[in-house]
Amino acid sequence: MCGSFAHCVLRLAPGTRFSASVAVWSLVGCLLLLHLYSNIHHKDGEGEEVQLRLSSHPQLRELQQVEEEENIRIPPPKGKRSPRAAKRRPKRSSTVIDEFLDENSQLRHIFFPGKKRAIGPMKAGNDSYYYYPGRIWMDTDGNPIQAHGGGILYDKKSRTYYWYGEYKDGPTYHAHKRGAARVDVIGVGCYSSKDLWTWKNEGIVLAAVETNETHDLAKSNVLERPKVIYNDKTGKYVMWMHIDDANYTKAAVGVAISDTPDGPFDYLGSQRPHGCDSRDMTVFKDDDGVAYLIYSSEDNSELHIGPLTEDYLNVTSIMKRILVGQHREAPSLFKHQGTYYMITSGCTGWAPNEALAHAAESILGPWETMGNPCVGGNKVFRLATFFAQSTFVLPLPGYHGSFIFMADRWNPADLRDSRYVWLPLIVAGPADQPLEHNFEFPLWSRVSIYWHKKWKLPQGWSGFK
Ligand code: GAL
Repeated sequence: MCGSFAHCVLRLAPGTRFSASVAVWSLVGCLLLLHLYSNIHHKDGEGEEVQLRLSSHPQLRELQQVEEEENIRIPPPKGKRSPRAAKRRPKRSSTVIDEFLDENSQLRHIFFPGKKRAIGPMKAGNDSYYYYPGRIWMDTDGNPIQAHGGGILYDKKSRTYYWYGEYKDGPTYHAHKRGAARVDVIGVGCYSSKDLWTWKNEGIVLAAVETNETHDLAKSNVLERPKVIYNDKTGKYVMWMHIDDANYTKAAVGVAISDTPDGPFDYLGSQRPHGCDSRDMTVFKDDDGVAYLIYSSEDNSELHIGPLTEDYLNVTSIMKRILVGQHREAPSLFKHQGTYYMITSGCTGWAPNEALAHAAESILGPWETMGNPCVGGNKVFRLATFFAQSTFVLPLPGYHGSFIFMADRWNPADLRDSRYVWLPLIVAGPADQPLEHNFEFPLWSRVSIYWHKKWKLPQGWSGFK
């Protein structure tokens, strides 16, 4: 047996030795060129290298034509700053984040534009079918959509998309002085759509429990980030969600189940998965039908990932610790060409921060951090994930390597008025940073989220025919 590849080359017949050495040197040359290319072209995601990534997806060029955002000018200090805004200041705040959190800021209209913008059929004309990230999004009844921290399930049986999320249409208040802004639990909102653009309100599919103050779903508790997956074996729709008390000390996950995607879901209970604290979370169903729970743990310092039981109603004993010490939350997982990708945020409560993309060959790890996926806008926009926080990444059927990045632009002054920032996410081109493993050669593609003030799904998207 050969001890090494080079050793093998030496033991070949003379005729073949030359061609084998040429092959080795060509390979080394190619790898060096690749390394050089990735170093030259991927310094810090400033936007100028966007053109490079266009070539492989001709039909998606429009999605990758990013828009530059005008630089935001911070107004001179004047008048009263909201005392609550001062308290909510995250540790490493920038002045723009301060403005974002200040409900009296003169820049408020930039982050939370007031003009109502329908997505849905009642606004025809030139503006139809466009997504306007950050504007108010309406359902088919003309009411603002309440599906925050949500995710989308494609139901094959009914060929319908279901969007589930936190129904937050109640008053924002502080349970105590130092607590985060909150809205009492109302339940999980559900909206259905055939085209990902027209959303019909299907009502609250898992409601708060009014009669029992000790129940997980009591309105004084916390229900966040609900996600639904379909179990092909049991034929049940299974919802996983973050369950907590108002102080975020319970740190658990809850499970609910339904025979139909539009509910009602029956709540089965909560647990600390693998005996660990669990806050921001998501579930991911792999191609082979195995589903995984991913959650922030050890006081949000790391993520845990582990497969669910076959019926998706529980975790198993298998759990891996990933991104240890990186303090990431809001995990959103997706898969492309056999590689697993994930977008996460930092941990600054409702305040926006920098997103990171991660990749792994095996879903249980090791996971590598690839860098900030945001492209376009301006630097401040990119460093604040376009003033939003990841919640889900939805594959765009028929457009290989293309996804919709779903994020929440939280409005801590009035959480019900938090906005949705959906943007095209494309996996293509080499990763930005040399990676820890694999001799520093990036094995994975870059994940890019392209900023647009308005955008629409590609021409020919079947839902729009
Ligand atoms: C964020 C988290 C949200 C919510 C919020 C409360 O860090 O991602 O889901 O829990 O904190 O402040």
